[in-house]
Amino acid sequence: MMLGHSQLAGLGPRARVLDEAFVGAVLDGLSMAQKTLPCRYFYDARGSDLFEQITELEEYYPMRTEASILKAHAAALMGGATSDSVLVEFGSGSSRKTEFLLAELPPGAAYVPIDVSPDALAQARVRLARRYPALDIRPVVGDFSDAVRFPQGLRGRPRVGFFPGSTIGNLHRPDAAKLLSRFKTLLGGSGRLIIGVDLKKDKTILENAYNDRLGVTAEFNLNLLARINREIEPAFDLEAFTHTALYNDLEGRIEMHLVSQLDQAFEIRGRPFRMRAGESIHTENSYKYAASEFQALAERAGWSPASVRTDPRGLFSVHVLT
Ligand code: SAH
Ligand code: AVI
Repeated sequence: MMLGHSQLAGLGPRARVLDEAFVGAVLDGLSMAQKTLPCRYFYDARGSDLFEQITELEEYYPMRTEASILKAHAAALMGGATSDSVLVEFGSGSSRKTEFLLAELPPGAAYVPIDVSPDALAQARVRLARRYPALDIRPVVGDFSDAVRFPQGLRGRPRVGFFPGSTIGNLHRPDAAKLLSRFKTLLGGSGRLIIGVDLKKDKTILENAYNDRLGVTAEFNLNLLARINREIEPAFDLEAFTHTALYNDLEGRIEMHLVSQLDQAFEIRGRPFRMRAGESIHTENSYKYAASEFQALAERAGWSPASVRTDPRGLFSVHVLT
């Protein structure tokens, strides 16, 4: 069953479990020496919409570059797919780029998009059902790092995994390796994984991608505080924070932070917090990998790198792991 946002809110115990997980993550993260909030909470309805706007920005090259690689190589990437195949996508969001791969699936095949955002899944499902009426679409609302409840009736069929967008880059390297090995178990012994990974490159290109001139990425970042205000309690004055995104050379990652503009105090669920002017909340890492560096990480997770394709400018890579 597909869950819309309102349906999720009406679910009682399940909705409460989700809310409490969010509250727990917020309280834990803000209690750390370097205040932190987990980036998976960016994606409520507003956040998913803002991410869609980011993908259309001139500075944000990953979306269109990955799309160009998928478009050029879709047939080869999906080679061997049969009417039995199930395409399983992790963090599917709008599923827009997926259409290049879906077009290569024979009739009878199924598609399982998995995402924490019910709103993104609901919108994608409506669009895809219209465009691919013969496709069996089975969305799963959930965290891909947890045990995923695979849709009944599709168990036992061969699986191809798809993890685009360089979402793998949002995890620390050891967690990325753990996730890849979890996906290996979920996809089964003969499963393959097609994964998009942003490449290391000139720092200016990277920093511009996360500091767009229209301020959409800033709004996306601040939406995390706005979400806390909406869903937990009105704790933050958004005007008192600014967005920053800098490339950390040593770690090979873009870091996004929300920087307090003044000494301030706030309270969440009765717990008091203080921030000094200039102190930040670390909201996201986006690791960048050289192709060989990512292949080594995949090997540590038990995968065999089968191929890697990049665009002519060497901005983005699409790997196939077997
Ligand atoms: N794959 C899409 C969207 C990338 S944005 C693309 O390439 O354009 C990252 C997506 O992953 C969002 O839709 C977000 O809701 C989802 N996401 C982030 N963390 C997740 C998690 N732990 N489990 C499931 N989905 C997650
Ligand atoms: C989803 N993820 C790979 C994006 C990224 O580039 O790290 C999220 C994002 N953050 C800011 N802009 C886009």
